[in-house]
This record gives sequence, structure tokens and C-alpha cells, in this order.
Amino acid sequence: MSIAYHEESRVISLRTAHQLYQMKVAEGNVLLHLYYGPAAEGEMGYLLRTANRGFCGNPYEQRHDRGFSLDTLPQEYSGSGVGDYRLSAVRAVAADGSRSVDLRYVSHRIEAGRAELPGLPFVRAAEDTETLVVTLRDSVTGLRAELRYHVFPGHDVIVRSVRLVNEGTRPLVIGKAASACVDFPYGDFDVLHFHGRHNMERMPERVRLPRGVTAFGSTRGMSSHQSNPYIILRDRRATETAGDCYGFMLVYSGNHLEEIEVDQLGGTRVVAGIHPEGFAWTLDPGERFDTPECILSHSAEGLNGLSRQFHNLIREQVIAPRWREARRPVLINSWEAAYFDFDAAKILRFAQSARELGVEMLVLDDGWFGKRDDDNSGLGDWTVNEKKLGCSMGELSAQIHALGLRFGLWFEPEMISEDSDLYRAHPDWALCDPDRKPMLSRNQLVLDLSRQDVVDYLFGALCAVLDHAQIDYVKWDFNRSVANCYSHALPADRQGETAHRCMLGTYQLLSRLLARYPELMIEGCSGGGGRFDAGMLFYCPQIWCSDDTDAVERLEIQRGTSYGYPVSAMGAHVSAVPNHQTGRVVPMRTRGIVAQSGTFGYELNPNALTDAEKEEVKAQIADYRRYARLVMHGDYYRLTELDDGKEFSAWMFVARDGGEALVNLVVTHVRANDAFPWIRLRGLIPEACYRLEGSGEIYAGSALMAAGISFPAAAGEYAAHQLHFVRVEG
Ligand code: DGJ
Repeated sequence: MSIAYHEESRVISLRTAHQLYQMKVAEGNVLLHLYYGPAAEGEMGYLLRTANRGFCGNPYEQRHDRGFSLDTLPQEYSGSGVGDYRLSAVRAVAADGSRSVDLRYVSHRIEAGRAELPGLPFVRAAEDTETLVVTLRDSVTGLRAELRYHVFPGHDVIVRSVRLVNEGTRPLVIGKAASACVDFPYGDFDVLHFHGRHNMERMPERVRLPRGVTAFGSTRGMSSHQSNPYIILRDRRATETAGDCYGFMLVYSGNHLEEIEVDQLGGTRVVAGIHPEGFAWTLDPGERFDTPECILSHSAEGLNGLSRQFHNLIREQVIAPRWREARRPVLINSWEAAYFDFDAAKILRFAQSARELGVEMLVLDDGWFGKRDDDNSGLGDWTVNEKKLGCSMGELSAQIHALGLRFGLWFEPEMISEDSDLYRAHPDWALCDPDRKPMLSRNQLVLDLSRQDVVDYLFGALCAVLDHAQIDYVKWDFNRSVANCYSHALPADRQGETAHRCMLGTYQLLSRLLARYPELMIEGCSGGGGRFDAGMLFYCPQIWCSDDTDAVERLEIQRGTSYGYPVSAMGAHVSAVPNHQTGRVVPMRTRGIVAQSGTFGYELNPNALTDAEKEEVKAQIADYRRYARLVMHGDYYRLTELDDGKEFSAWMFVARDGGEALVNLVVTHVRANDAFPWIRLRGLIPEACYRLEGSGEIYAGSALMAAGISFPAAAGEYAAHQLHFVRVEG
């Protein structure tokens, strides 16, 4: 059993292979947090010490014990307005205007497995999953909070969410509903967060936590390029390979907030969930609200140990079972090859040449529907522009399939152009404040997916295209941040629900499409990686990592992404040079090696390749196929560290049984007469011997990890090295 309750001490313990998480029902039925960290025996109640700290109030029943304060004791899920002045996890306004939330333990239950989360993406149950539900209640308002903990012992993961239920007789307006709150009364932490912008997503930044609140989040109606819903709390001494690291990842694609507070006594509280800015959800008596899930994981093996735990969980329990084992098709995407300028004949010429090179799927990007020859019009009109194409989509897809390729199509379902038939017919379907001109971005508006009629329209419109052509793959784009988040279908006092209801509409649409087309692969996208999160990964096994296809920039973007997400989720393509985003020229071999550490494909005109480049492409595709299993399912190691000053970037994959390894290194700054690049390998079996393919040389695993390996000096800019080691008897 991974969950246990001790009757006498009233302590609940959650155990995974290497972690322990404990809470305790204390005096007055206050639910205290005891411990989260490396596995240990016993109960950590001995850590609780109380003292009268001054200006830290006491609950009425404990008024004679001035040390018992909600402000200083570690809380499992903090209320608001009742004397814990640290970050609140929940806020609610009662019908009489009072704002206090005082949650006390009522009961708990332990169950095998886990229930699905209605309307939201979730971490799918593993064989050993168990669930704890702790019920807390505010006795005055009748607000009930069910804290849910799904324990994944084999993955070293605990997944949390909260269900709020109004058991009172009058409405309650929820202003904040965090998915998780964790107190660390002891410890010195830095936080690693992942900031960015369009074309440069998920840049890790280490921040020394000051006293007070540090916060990251998005109010853009999307998880965003700017701030990924994933943070790592790391012991200040932790490194890439050792030390305590705690990951908090939301399974959500909308507005989110991750707050960290270092309090007056040096304790650290983490609170993560839907962003409260603009959020107000009315719960009528009897109604309930489910928060998104938050994945918690701890590793004592540093940042890379934590990354591997998240990779395994996402690959095995978040991504749909249909795609867990399937090798992803090598695709060619028309975007950088043609932008809006194409017809069927041109696309077929791409397909023909790509097929000869070994490509397996052609994806027709933006521009095939409605009036869409640039990005100013047409969104919402999902009818095939047969005049532009010169044939129907059914005919084009049939011809592509006849060449032996699969076929994919681009959509941006959640958007609408002002210049579209849909907008002319239903202007009220766009999110927009009354009497106010909308804030435009890429000249488009956002559809109001909080409305069931809009979701139903989109379902019908997408099915009409998917039913009349053989479409194996959809690229699902989202190309602006949300503003003027007002729904014409909701009453004035419910507008604070619009943003989250839109997210629920998107999830509903994705679920319905996948139920109807279970073989359809959907690749997520949002101007590249603006919605790269575990919520979208529940529906989309891969997400276009960034619109920046420059291989040198991709080294950083893919590396930053790897702290939380597996390479099997990262769309990565070889594009033409000079690169369209930076103008940089990177050798074809390097572009191939970087893109092979993702879901591999091409983003260029295959007819513009030289014969030599065509041969290289064929070899790259053969290599991708050869290493696909190792790369997609193996353990991933970053070999160069954050800010280590190295002028090369290196990473490797090791098969889970240690039987082979693939090492990649790209020189990012070439210098005359420079030292040889040198790295220590990781994750090999120290006692085993490995043969370096192509050379026949044999190395001891222990030598490769202790003494390391050096590489010849680079010739030319951005040279790449790739070494494949296979375990041999010896
Ligand atoms: C943004 C995507 O990231 C690109 O790959 C491309 O699909 C464009 N949108 C099309 O408008």
C-alpha cells in the first residue's frame, strides 16, 4: 500500500519508490503538512515546534495556546482571511460579502486506481496508482474542499487536484482555487522557471528566492511562450546529477500561476493553479468545481534525475496509449517551403521528391481553406479552397497516399478572422467586450469556446473536412494571446468564468474529435511552442517546439524544454539555410542531428536540395529510424550544464537496459587552436564495456563516465559529432 493512515497519530503517509509525503490532522482538525522529500521511516510530527511569534494569531478554540498559529504551522491547503498571512490556496466570497475561508479536516478515504477528471486532461492511472481524498470543510459557508492525491509509486510522482463543492445554502464566488499547495518549513531553495518569447521558448532561469513572494504565470489565455506552467524548487546545493529537486507541473493549457513565498521564519510555500487574475467562478448550492491537476515529483538525483521522472510519467501516463510505443512518422511540412503560395500541383511535387528521400508524411500547413492567401483573413471558414488548390482535398490526399505517404492538414480551430464568412454571420462568437474595439493580434480574434454552439460548430466543420479526405494528422495551431475575454453568452456576473470555460471547450472539442477519429494524430502548436504543456500532451502526443527552426537556437530551446518534457513530445524539423528566422547557416549534418532529438521532419522545399544534400537527407532518415527507439524511449541526459561557459552543447540517450547509447555534441563557437571538447558520459553501466560503432574501439562504461571522452577539434562553424556505443561482452 502506498497510502497509509495511522489512527492514533492521525498521520497520513503517501509513499513512492523514493519519496515520502506526510500530513497530520492536528488540534481543531487543522490539516498540517508534515513532510515532502526523500523516503524515510517514521512520522515527522516531531518536526513541528510551536512558539509565540508575535502578531501571529490563534484560532478561537486554541486561544490559550499562543504558539498554535495558522500563520506559522505548515498547512496542507491554506485558506484565506483567517490568520495565515502567507499565500492562500483558495479564496471565496460568500453571499453576505464575507471572505474568510477556514478549512478543517472532516474525513478521508483511500481508493485503488484513480477516477478520471471530468472535462480536463489528467495523468492516466498506472497499475499501481492509489488515491487519497481528504475532505476539508468551512463550517460557516459550507464550502467543501476535496483534496485529491493520486500516488504513482513506480514513477515517484504524486498528482494533486482539488474539488470544491458548495454545501451551503447560498452562492459562493470562488476567486482562487489552487491545484496544489506545499509547505517546506525547512530548507534553502532556488527556483528554476522557464521563461521565453515567440521563437525562444522555455529558457531556464535560476532565481535565488528572496523573502516574500516570487511568482510566474500567464494571463494570456494560454500556457504561453513567456512562462511555462512548470517550476523546479531546487536545494541551493543541488546540481544536474545530485541533490534534492522538486518539480511542480500543471496539467493545464490556460491561465496559470506558480507562486513561491519565503516566510518570516524562512519556510517556503509553493502554490500552483489557475491564475486568479480575472477569475471568479460562481458555485450555486450543490455545484462543484474541479481544478486542473498538478504533478509533483521529487528527485535526490538532481535536475536530470527529476527530468527523467517527468519524461517517464509523460511518456507512459499522459500521452495517449495509442502513441506510447508508435514510432512517429518522418514528416515534411509545407510552411517554410511555400508559406501561403501553393496549389495541389506544387504540394504533389514536394510529396513526390520527399517520398524518394524516405519521408513518410506530407503536412499541408496554413492557407488551404476559405479566403486565406495571407494571415489577414479566412480563419473560421474551414471549407477547402478548391479554386486555389485546383482539386478537392479528397483528391489531393488520395494522390499523396497513392505516392505512399500519409497526409496531414493544418487547422487553427479556436480563432476567427474579422474578414471571414463565420464572423460576418456570428460576430458574437468572438471574445470581445461590449462597446469596445477588440485588441487584434495577427489580425485575428479568438472564438468563444465557452459556448457550446461554437464548440459544436467547430466539431461539425472539422469533421466535414476530415470525413471527405484521408487525413492522418492534424496540426492544431493557436496564434495569438487572448484579450477582451468577454463572452456574449454568459451573464455579467459570470464573466470571470470565461477564460477557464474556453479551455474546457477546447478540451471538449479535442476529446470529441479523438473519440470519433481514434487513429488521428494531433500535433499541438501555438506559434511554435506557446502551448507546450502537459494538458495539450494528453491529447497531442507531440507539440511543435518552436517556430525558430535554426538548429543552433534549437539546441537551447530543446534543452530548456527537456527539463520537464520528453524529446518524444518535441516537434523538430530540418529547415533550409540561410535560416528563415535568424539568417544563420548551419551544416546539414548538424541540422539533422538536432532535429533527430525530437519528432523528426523537414520544413523545406525538397526540390531545392542539391544532389549531395539529398543523399544526406536519405542518410539522416535512415539514422532517425535506426535510433528512434533509443531516442524516444531511452533515458535522456543533458551533458553540458546551465551557464557552464562551454562553447559546445552535448546530450545523450541511454537505453533503459544500458545496452546502447547515443551521444551528440554540437560546437556552438569555433575558435582557432582551441582545446578539444571533453565530456563525461552518464547513465552507462559502469561494469559494462561499450564498442564505439564505426571504429571498433572498446571502452569501459566506468571510463566513459569517470575519465570521459574527448572530440576532435571542430572544423568550420557549428560542427556536430555523434557517437553510438553498443554494449559488448567483456
Ligand atoms: C504558426 C506555426 O507555428 C507555424 O508552423 C505555421 O503553422 C504558422 N503558424 C501558420 O500560420
